[in-house]
Amino acid sequence: MSFPITRMRRLRRNATLRRMVRETSLSVDDLILPLFVRPGEGVKKEISSMPGNYQWSVDTLVEECKEVEGLGIPAVILFGIPEHKDEQGSEAYAEDGIVCRAIEAIKRACSELVVITDVCMCEYTDHGHCGVIMDNRDGNPDVDNDATLELLVRESLAHVNAGADMVAPSDMMDGRVGEIRLALDDEGFSDVPIMAYAAKFASGFYGPFREAAESPPQFGDRSSYQMDPANLKEAIREIELDIEEGADIVMVKPALPYLDVIRRAADDFELPIAAYNVSGEFAMLKAAAAKGWLDEKRVAMESLLSIKRAGAKLILTYWAKDAAKWLAE
Ligand code: PBG
Repeated sequence: MSFPITRMRRLRRNATLRRMVRETSLSVDDLILPLFVRPGEGVKKEISSMPGNYQWSVDTLVEECKEVEGLGIPAVILFGIPEHKDEQGSEAYAEDGIVCRAIEAIKRACSELVVITDVCMCEYTDHGHCGVIMDNRDGNPDVDNDATLELLVRESLAHVNAGADMVAPSDMMDGRVGEIRLALDDEGFSDVPIMAYAAKFASGFYGPFREAAESPPQFGDRSSYQMDPANLKEAIREIELDIEEGADIVMVKPALPYLDVIRRAADDFELPIAAYNVSGEFAMLKAAAAKGWLDEKRVAMESLLSIKRAGAKLILTYWAKDAAKWLAE
């Protein structure tokens, strides 16, 4: 049946009709807020390329988390900026490291909030790469996969011992989900889920994050471990492997330039899909909104809804607090 019998506009005539036939919705339950913690006291240092986002010290972070919990946001994901960086990224797995101290303080203050930690070495190494550097076969420095696994396991255990509710390895080493799962189970943490950054692309959209986490690579880039933006089949293999190794939630990152990957993941796999609406996706809309070129609320909510429509259940987003407020309006 086609025009004039069929008229698609009939169901768009007014707001109530549109509400009735709306296929996708965004809920506060879908949101995870990334937060950055650094040493010090009373610190609330704005990240210039991510307006409205800050590096916090543990005390101010706890206040922020109370507000986040009060807004009904279910979870935060923590990134640490250590006191000292070194070649082995030792503060990543130190029991009194910045993230461990933050977890303990948040868990004392917020009983409902799920505290997830980003498990990676790049914030803690002086070279800014996500693992242990060794010379590769061509004689060039590169991240050594198998030597890095042990450090990621130690980091995960430190976070979970401090009270983390979930760990999220973001390094893209092969085999890390399986190693972390085994170690957690061995230590009596069989009930702690792993959210794997499964299909993480080597993306230019992480630019502002590297300012936020003070973690740009000091040489080269991350393309020997993060994925080539051209590859969809490879993304599906990465996700499949992380599921086989025991991931409970799999993530696609970034989100908006990779909605096709999210869609395929949602079609092919039955476990919850998360998507990371990354720093660059946030910064570009913020910048355009500051110039008056875009309506921030509209484009932010449209972006988040699109990520849901593509098939994600969870969204890591720097708009989590704003979105929670907008949804409550
Ligand atoms: C750590 C990590 C990064 C992001 C999350 N975890 C940076 C990177 O891989 O370079 C980026 C998040 C964002 O851009 O918002 N490896």
